[in-house]
Amino acid sequence: MNASARTSGWATLALTLGLAFCGEAPEQPQAKLAPLQPNRSSELAIAMRAMDSELVSLLARHAEEDNWDGATLTLLDLTRMMPTDSSMLVDGYKAYAMAFGKHIEAFNAAPSADTYSDVVNGCLSCHMQACPGPIERINKRQLN
Ligand code: HEC
Repeated sequence: MNASARTSGWATLALTLGLAFCGEAPEQPQAKLAPLQPNRSSELAIAMRAMDSELVSLLARHAEEDNWDGATLTLLDLTRMMPTDSSMLVDGYKAYAMAFGKHIEAFNAAPSADTYSDVVNGCLSCHMQACPGPIERINKRQLN
């Protein structure tokens, strides 16, 4: 294999993994092809999991009684974290990330069902463009 064939092979592999790990990998019908996480999780993916669990605990603690006193979310700068694959940094990614930051700030300034829903919609707007895999999971974070 010459150098350029090798390079494009790696690019294809990286792209495939990037797409496969954008969110939960779909069930693999052909089973044990590769270990589930052959590469380390990206900084962005780790941050996403942390945000997702913050939503889960907010829902458990505040949504049921619609009492949002003391609720906060961690403000992260998503524009500075590296994803698994640069193909995830779609056009407009930075704008989504910044808009999302504003939703977090608004929630922290005045936590309520409305500002919470804006945060979840901010998750969804970016995911529809950049990474559709986790949308189903994010939809479970919506208020009833
Ligand atoms: C600005 C864009 C953007 C916003 C906003 C955003 N995400 Fe993500 N999310 C991504 C990208 C890109 C990935 C893929 C990261 C990777 O695999 O490196 C991702 C990955 C994920 C994953 C999968 C992580 C894993 O285990 O691999 C989950 C779950 C997730 N996001 C949930 C959320 C939730 C919940 C919110 C809102 C609180 C949110 N995201 C907001 C872009 C975004």
